[in-house]
Amino acid sequence: MKSRGVLLAGNWKMNHLQKDTIQFLTALAPVLKNSPKTNSQMRIYIPALSLETAVKKVTADSIPLQVGCQNAHFEKSGAFTGEISIPMLQEIGVHQVLVGHSERRQLFGETNETVLKRTVSALDQGAEVLVCVGETLDERNLGKMESVLQSQLEFLTQNETTRKAFGNKLHIAYEPVWAIGTGVTASPAQAQEAHAFIRNFLDRKIGPDTANATRILYGGSVTPANFKELLGCSDIDGGLVGGASLKIESWTQLWALI
Ligand code: PGA
Repeated sequence: MKSRGVLLAGNWKMNHLQKDTIQFLTALAPVLKNSPKTNSQMRIYIPALSLETAVKKVTADSIPLQVGCQNAHFEKSGAFTGEISIPMLQEIGVHQVLVGHSERRQLFGETNETVLKRTVSALDQGAEVLVCVGETLDERNLGKMESVLQSQLEFLTQNETTRKAFGNKLHIAYEPVWAIGTGVTASPAQAQEAHAFIRNFLDRKIGPDTANATRILYGGSVTPANFKELLGCSDIDGGLVGGASLKIESWTQLWALI
């Protein structure tokens, strides 16, 4: 068993209506109740408009599922059209936030600076944050995987709030951009190499206790066919799963592999 425990996190992105959410959670409830795992958790980052529905369902049926939002703004309120604040999430019982997903970085102009601002603000307000890092295919082919990860992580290791939160309220998802939604998974060796780099970086910049306590999830075309082998790698503490989190069959198969 992994000392840090395993976190299986789903990212539904812009998929599933409220009725699909209810249907999914209804099917998930008996699976989680019949196969409880000590030291492991399940979480799903659900579209914002379905969060309240999901929280109510999870609470009413005592489903041991953490419900998270896919993004949150760094200001508590104000003129930020289209954004969602942490107090708005907390009001409906959501305390988990995903920050810096590559789709946010590539499609919506998220930068290392805004990722840091969103992370610090969420932590300051008591939320727990999973920050995504990862290189593109071009960067990997140019041999820049480590330097890209380093620059993405450096923002987080230099700030006082994030330094202190690592391993407690702040964890990392390594998602090579070339593996997201492509059907191409990083091989266990490639993933382990990146995860070990991240953990060593945290060790050097903050310290061994923090590096040991921080969960590093792998994301990018995780399926029931490859998850077991990925989980066998010493620095992989779980998965951040897009496509395979959408169907109850594949999602519960992943849970069964933990
Ligand atoms: P995928 O997505 O599992 O569909 O590749 C992962 C993610 O984007 O978090």
